[in-house]
Amino acid sequence: MPLFQTIQCNETTKILIWEITESFEELFSKVVLKEKTQQRLNGMKSQMHQRAFLSVRMLIQEMGFTDNDLHYDEFGKPYFDCHNFISITHSHHFAAIIISHETVGIDMELQREKILRIADKFVDCENKYLSPENVQDYVRELTIIWGAKEAIFKIRNEKGISFKDHIKVGAFSLNENQTEASLHFDDLVKDFDVHYKEMKSANFDGSFTLVYAFEK
Ligand SMILES: CC(C)(COP(=O)(O)OP(=O)(O)OC[C@H]1O[C@@H](n2cnc3c(N)ncnc32)[C@H](O)[C@@H]1OP(=O)(O)O)[C@@H](O)C(=O)NCCC(=O)NCCS
Repeated sequence: MPLFQTIQCNETTKILIWEITESFEELFSKVVLKEKTQQRLNGMKSQMHQRAFLSVRMLIQEMGFTDNDLHYDEFGKPYFDCHNFISITHSHHFAAIIISHETVGIDMELQREKILRIADKFVDCENKYLSPENVQDYVRELTIIWGAKEAIFKIRNEKGISFKDHIKVGAFSLNENQTEASLHFDDLVKDFDVHYKEMKSANFDGSFTLVYAFEK
């Protein structure tokens, strides 16, 4: 199945999610790649990674852009020549992009109990409102926090940012779909609106968490 979901977040912001069910060959036959992108594709060890990378190109085409419009800075952050911002994520059988006139970041993660083992590496002030008693909910909450921090990192893209020490995600409820966060780094405080959405696919076991953030 190609386009899995489209979310119109606001007037100038759109999220496109691709469910990667096509083979490498099928995807490859549908995209036009510039030389630099082709080289990157050739260097990828896993075919799943290649399929995700090609799916992102499908999404870009879906939005009326081409691979020629997409560039990367020295840290790997993607950008367009035009006034649109873009952020990219891929996780297992999903790939997603967010395109906006605002500064945005996106992350998608599979909800896994594995996150319990690394919680103390990226959670700090959030412990005040988290409740580890219900493991299933705790995993969902941790995945939202992780996704929010990744999305904010992708916006700011600054060396030295620690998820645990510098990014604070405000209290939120699993029944809602948004919260706030702030980045405290280099004597500056930046505030963000964070949105999250959980999703499942009929073709794949497990639930995914999509998180996207806007810099205020
Ligand atoms: C770069 C990073 C943000 C990628 O996130 P990820 O969850 O591994 O992977 P995702 O699939 O969600 O995102 C990958 C995409 O992010 C984008 N990206 C890569 N580096 C980026 C950067 N420095 N800034 C913004 N976006 C970046 C790229 O578009 C990439 O996909 P593409 O190269 O195929 O186009 C992440 O690996 C990272 O470095 N995080 C911060 C490090 C950290 O502090 N981690 C642990 C704290 S406990």
